[in-house]
Amino acid sequence: MNSNSSNLKIKRYDLSEDKSLKAFSAADELTLERFSELSSKDKPLVIYNDRFGYLTCHLADLKTSTVYTNKSQLSAITSNCKANGINFENYCDPLSPLAYKVDFALLKVPKSLALFELYLQHISENSTTKVQVVIGFMTRHFSPKMIEIAEKYFENVEQSRAVKKARTATLTGKKKIEKASLIDSLEFNNYNYQQYWGVFSAKHIDYATQYFLKHLQVDPKDQNILDLASGNGVIAKEISKKLPQSTFHLVDDSYLAVESAKLNMNGENVQHYFENNLSNFDKNSFNLIVSNPPFHFEHEINIQIPIHLFKECFRCLKPGGNLQIVANNQLNYSSQLKNIFPKVETVAQNENLVVIKCEK
Ligand SMILES: C[S@@+](CC[C@H](N)C(=O)[O-])C[C@H]1O[C@@H](n2cnc3c(N)ncnc32)[C@H](O)[C@@H]1O
Repeated sequence: MNSNSSNLKIKRYDLSEDKSLKAFSAADELTLERFSELSSKDKPLVIYNDRFGYLTCHLADLKTSTVYTNKSQLSAITSNCKANGINFENYCDPLSPLAYKVDFALLKVPKSLALFELYLQHISENSTTKVQVVIGFMTRHFSPKMIEIAEKYFENVEQSRAVKKARTATLTGKKKIEKASLIDSLEFNNYNYQQYWGVFSAKHIDYATQYFLKHLQVDPKDQNILDLASGNGVIAKEISKKLPQSTFHLVDDSYLAVESAKLNMNGENVQHYFENNLSNFDKNSFNLIVSNPPFHFEHEINIQIPIHLFKECFRCLKPGGNLQIVANNQLNYSSQLKNIFPKVETVAQNENLVVIKCEK
């Protein structure tokens, strides 16, 4: 445990200005506590889904690696380490092997159980037979499927009592498991989309995205196109069928989404970015920006993040260029977008969804 543990200050460092949102939960605290009960300090350890760096900062003094899935997560952990004077660099993406086999793994259970399973696959590949895994979760997020998945990989799954509405489970007795491909296929519009487990949206192309694609307005003059929050790349891919000569830029905060999009869309006119903002793009860069923007962040709903991204879109669009989005009606983005763009129109609307076009 970090010798300065009680003085660590963990912040969110995200694009949201909501100060009421916390950078860690009782599930993180309980996971750390459970680890302290079990651990032998010099054994190698890996941490998964440490959203803002609470666990990494507390355990950076040990032989610790952190597996990241999001750019926002990587930036927050790096910032928290720096702000707390911690020198930590052992980061690994979820598709690469760890530098060494671990005896311990700590895992905050993600909302996507497919991603949870991908993490268990990674642990299975990168651990000794004696590995002990502590998973942490808020009791309101518990689902029996979580235990079912854990039992595919481990003989013993022992749940703790609840403390401050959080619980842990300790997994021991690693089973021998076949290495899985980690990729699902989704058939849509005569194309077989590939995506890593846990990438939005599971099982089928999102219905909002399908509605968007029906109403999206593209023009042969749209030479430079940005798909913001691109997921598996479906929106850019479908546009490219109509505008094969255009250049496509695909940005997503999720490492697995970016790697999925690379499977679906590549070529000289395609560029992928593992990023959670547009700060690397110059102003006046794009003719068209398209997005099915995020507003769910694990179990939180936060529209400040998409609104921040819309402001960035305005900066990055060429004069005369446009942003088109699909969204849930209830989010009422139109009024927010009218504060950013001179011209905002509803292109299509049904009971649940709206497609909005904003011109610069
Ligand atoms: C609603 S999904 C849309 C995915 C894809 N475009 C589709 O239509 O299936 C939103 C995506 O936003 C990504 N995301 C979340 N925060 C982001 C951010 N700050 N910058 C870029 N992408 C982000 C998520 O990883 C997710 O892939």
